[in-house]
Amino acid sequence: MPVHLVTHPLVHDALAILRDEQTAPELFRRMAVRISLLLAAEATRDLPSTAVSVSTPIGPAPGLRVTGDVVVVPVLRAGLGMLDAVLELIPTARVGHIGLQRDEMTAVASRYYSKLPLTLGGSFVLMIDPMLATGGSAVAALDLLRDAGARDVRVICIVSAPEGIAYVEQHHPDVHIFTPAVDQGLNDHKFIVPGLGDFGDRLYGTQ
Ligand code: PRP
Ligand code: URA
Repeated sequence: MPVHLVTHPLVHDALAILRDEQTAPELFRRMAVRISLLLAAEATRDLPSTAVSVSTPIGPAPGLRVTGDVVVVPVLRAGLGMLDAVLELIPTARVGHIGLQRDEMTAVASRYYSKLPLTLGGSFVLMIDPMLATGGSAVAALDLLRDAGARDVRVICIVSAPEGIAYVEQHHPDVHIFTPAVDQGLNDHKFIVPGLGDFGDRLYGTQ
């Protein structure tokens, strides 16, 4: 499974602020948007486009316009913090939602919501979830997307653990993962070390 390690310094600048325990929800949300914009740009490098000609005030100029159907799928709730950024880049994208919640004791993800666009087979699907820890949530979401007919799926996450990457690789070897950080591993509570804590809680101030 291809893992794309994003090394752009602006990505890592935002990531350092997200990791900082002193960062309050307002700044955390802004950094989540900033890093998501940059990661989404990286994950859409091979988005289909077509040659066009446009008229500038001076004359004709060759250009490229993005074509093809893009579907963005945030994994609730934390993935919502990345959605506006992706829609800023691709305003025509359709949006599916998958609601998953990890059990606090077992870290096993259970689904509480799913609403996906009807046709996914020919779409470029971007699944957004900031944290890839055990990989249980990602695999559950990818299973749903596959069952719904998705073929070309990329996952964007802000921090990942080797365990989660391996678990996704085992179940969905063809899925590309875009992440700036593969951390050391998981602690006893299945949190990423050093990670950044609970992304959803930090985003929404619920901790
Ligand atoms: C977090 C995160 C991922 C999941 C990652 O969500 O946003 O979806 O945990 O962990 P995993 O790889 O071990 O499955 P959480 O279940 O805490 O829900 P939330 O987004 O509502 O906070
Ligand atoms: N979910 C989070 O928000 N953080 C982790 O470290 C693991 C799962």
